[in-house]
Amino acid sequence: MADPDPKALDNLFTELLNTEDDALRAARESADAAGMPAIEVSAQHGKLLHLLTTMARATRVLEIGTLAGYSTINLARGVGADGHVVTLEYESRHADVARDNLERAGVCDRVEIIVGTALDTLPTLADRGDTFDLTFIDADKENNSAYVEWAVKLGHPGSIIVVDNIARFGRVLDPAPDDQQARAVRDMLKMMGQHPRLEVAAIQTVGTKGWDGFALARIS
Ligand code: SAH
Ligand code: DHB
Ligand code: MG
Repeated sequence: MADPDPKALDNLFTELLNTEDDALRAARESADAAGMPAIEVSAQHGKLLHLLTTMARATRVLEIGTLAGYSTINLARGVGADGHVVTLEYESRHADVARDNLERAGVCDRVEIIVGTALDTLPTLADRGDTFDLTFIDADKENNSAYVEWAVKLGHPGSIIVVDNIARFGRVLDPAPDDQQARAVRDMLKMMGQHPRLEVAAIQTVGTKGWDGFALARIS
C-alpha cells in the first residue's frame, strides 16, 4: 500500500470542512490564470489566519506580500465589516489581480493595497500613525528581519506577528551557501529569539505546499 499522503489529507480536510467558498477558490484559480506563482497560503493556513485574526479580536491588520489576495481575503474576513487591512505589494500586476479578487469576495472596502517596495512603503504607515493588532509577513524572505522590526514598531503590547515559510522543506536547518532565503529565515528566527519584546513559537507543517511552517509571535 502507498504511504499516506499529507497533501491528500490536507485536501480531505478542506473538502470535509468546506474551507473554501467560491471567492477563495476563484482567488486561487485567478493567480494561476494570470501566470502568477502558486505560492499563496494553503486553504487550512488561510483559515488559520482568519481564525487568529478573529480570536485576537484584531481589527487593524497589516500584510506584507499580497500576491492575488488569497491570504488577504482571509485576513479581511477575520477583522469583520468594521475592520481594516493594509496589504503591501511590490508588483502592480499582482495588486490588480488582488483587487478583483477582494471585490469578488465583498471585502474590497476594508482593504487598502499599497503598491511599492515594502521597505519604502512601511515608513509611510509610521508617518501617518497607523498601528496594527496583527501583521502577516509573507514577501521577500531576505527582508524578513527588517519586516519583523517594522511589525514591532507598528504594533503594540499584545499585537501578533505571523511569519510564513520558516521551514522550506527543511532548507533552513543547514542553508546552502547560495540559499539567501533560507539564511535570512534563520537569521530572522535568531533575531526573534533574542528580541526583548517577542514571545515566539515556530510551528512546522505538512500539507498541500509540502513541508513548511510559520512563526507565531506576541509583542509584549
Ligand atoms: N500572502 C500571499 C502570498 C504572497 S507571495 C497569499 O498567501 O495569498 C509574495 C508576494 O510578495 C508576491 O506577490 C511578491 O510580488 C511580493 N513581494 C516580493 N518582494 C516584495 C517587496 N520587497 N515588497 C512588497 N512586496 C513584495
Ligand atoms: C515561496 C514563497 C512563499 O511565500 C511561499 O509561501 C512559498 C514559496 C517562494 O518564493 O518560493
Ligand atoms: Mg508564503
